[in-house]
Amino acid sequence: MKYYLTTPLYYVNDAPHIGHAYTTLAADILARYHRLRGRQVFFLTGTDEHGQKVAQAAAARERSPLAHADDLVVRFQNLWRQLGISHNDFIRTTEKRHVSIVQTVLSQLHDRGEIYADDYQGWYCLPDERFWTEKELVEGACPDCRRPVTPIVERNYFFRMGKYQARLQQHIEAHPQFIRPQSRRNEVLGFLQKPLGDLCISRPTRRLSWGVPLPFDADYVTYVWVDALVNYISAAGYAADAERFERLWPADLHLVGKDILTTHAVYWSTLLMALDLPLPTQIFAHGWWTVDGEKMSKSRGNVVDPSAIIEAFGAEAFRYFLFREVPFGQDGNFSRQALIGRYNGDLANDLGNLVSRTVSLVLQLAGGVIPSPTDDLDGSEEAPTSALPVNGEGGNHRDEEGVNNSVRALLAGLPAAMDVALDDLAFHQALDEVWAVVDRLNRYIEQNAPWALAKQATGQAQLQTVLYTAAEGLRLVALHLSSFLPQTAEEIDRRLGLPPEARDQPFEVRQQWGGVNLVGCRVIKGTPLFPRIEKKEPPSPTTLDAPVKHEVAPMPAAPSTDIKPQILIDDFTRLDLRVGHILEAERVEGSKKLLKLRVDIGTEVRQVVAGIGGRYAPEELIGKQVAVLVNLKPAKMMGIESQGMLLAAGAESVLGLTTFSEEIPPGSRIR
Ligand code: MSP
Repeated sequence: MKYYLTTPLYYVNDAPHIGHAYTTLAADILARYHRLRGRQVFFLTGTDEHGQKVAQAAAARERSPLAHADDLVVRFQNLWRQLGISHNDFIRTTEKRHVSIVQTVLSQLHDRGEIYADDYQGWYCLPDERFWTEKELVEGACPDCRRPVTPIVERNYFFRMGKYQARLQQHIEAHPQFIRPQSRRNEVLGFLQKPLGDLCISRPTRRLSWGVPLPFDADYVTYVWVDALVNYISAAGYAADAERFERLWPADLHLVGKDILTTHAVYWSTLLMALDLPLPTQIFAHGWWTVDGEKMSKSRGNVVDPSAIIEAFGAEAFRYFLFREVPFGQDGNFSRQALIGRYNGDLANDLGNLVSRTVSLVLQLAGGVIPSPTDDLDGSEEAPTSALPVNGEGGNHRDEEGVNNSVRALLAGLPAAMDVALDDLAFHQALDEVWAVVDRLNRYIEQNAPWALAKQATGQAQLQTVLYTAAEGLRLVALHLSSFLPQTAEEIDRRLGLPPEARDQPFEVRQQWGGVNLVGCRVIKGTPLFPRIEKKEPPSPTTLDAPVKHEVAPMPAAPSTDIKPQILIDDFTRLDLRVGHILEAERVEGSKKLLKLRVDIGTEVRQVVAGIGGRYAPEELIGKQVAVLVNLKPAKMMGIESQGMLLAAGAESVLGLTTFSEEIPPGSRIR
């Protein structure tokens, strides 16, 4: 089955910003989602290069319009590369394949009597040398310079748009999904309550020469909107490749911002009607982003440059934030603080932690190889937090009563829940569903405490199930996340030791519990997927002009400036410092800060009591490499003997453990 979706064509009058990135990313998520499910996706984006805006921008740079467009288009293409956009085609309205079809369309409409010439009543601003329509005037004056305007009458060409008014109303009424969201559909219906006039589709070349010449009158170029809208059919093969066009048209989805809904819902739909072509299945208008509570504009200097955000936080975090923070269709506010909050909370803590603890636990407790689940034990579980439908058919191991309460039941409902959310373009809801599973898996690990099971003589079978469940759950999380965070999903697969061929299997297989065999896969340890951002942001670094700068957050306790009295090297060499690997960690009963650890120091496993429980949860520590002072005289803390001391930063409270940039065998000396 095919799925044809489009973004608007972006004007090349300026560099791309967050608004352009937003629509394109939404399209990318949908394209990936449909491809994953085996559909033939045609994802089209591109640039709108004709018209007054672009001509003016080029003049300001003293470039020809085409040379200017050639420069700017690269900015868009580079950004799409940085953001991992997976479009199938990128169309420029200056390309021959497009220009010739615009002319064909105009000739067809002209031949059918859909276009006629008439006098056009308008207003002219002499100082600006610009033509304005009645509607564009602000309090009767030039909207740009506010100076008086003079009336002019100009001969132009018109498309008989008005005659399609009733048909368009009926179409919208009969197809509730045609314009979405509902509130925008109502706006369009409201707009159509007033009489719909005809559309002026030409500009005299003496005013504007940068456009597609009208095929039937060389003194005119095509109105830029008519030119640009035709891209949706020119790129699909209209009047050039009948078989391809038949296959692709009508488009399944035009994604647009709310400001350009009328041009799509009304101009485009009526043009298609006049061409006798079916209308697209859906036009979805999303909301606008403000920045730190203000409208984004060049004059305010608050235009968000996506490249700067990517450089500071990574493309995946940017992708995540835009679609988790605000329901698609509503307006949203962008701020670095909110992005950092989502990054640290959802990505570093929830997802990042799940990945690192799953891999560490398999490394520490199963020799790095994902074990086979045992049939008789499923770990202890509590009711899932999200009421997802359960299809109960996904698994290959245990499907009896009680499955409702299991991690597996939550996961069995995930594909259907994702479909419901994404059919509705409710990206935030889809991410909520995935995060309900991430939370559940984190809790599952805590409740089943595999590190404790490993110590019990009878815990082995359950340990295997718990490790397998965590790993398989994570695999499915990555699968469903892959449309949103493609690189992260791929990296999770790699860390689980999945061979790349596992991705070649059909989605129906991959989405099932046990559908891809993880048993025997060798996990790979890596650096944190989303290292926490511990930095305080300067007040307004979101703009293109303000480069990304980080200020270091104030330390909880000001670092001491007093350097201790000098020692000799002999004093230092009396310390026996070694690399230790933490094997187990648990809280000391009755203490908030103390953790009891078992640390492999190469020659033996030591019991160490450390005051780091305020900074670390026990399970975070398993697998960590630490620096241990191994010749400190043993001492008892809360009645428990400590046979060494861990090195950490921080004066009053622990800021972080001393650790190593490379894997180092336990027992290695630290000098
Ligand atoms: N060239 C026309 C579209 C022609 S489609 C056949 C155009 N281009 S644009 O570059 O000005 O805008 C493209 C898109 O960016 C629009 O969908 C618009 O809604 C979106 N955005 C511009 N600023 C935005 C925000 N601040 N927030 C979200 N999207 C915004 O219009």
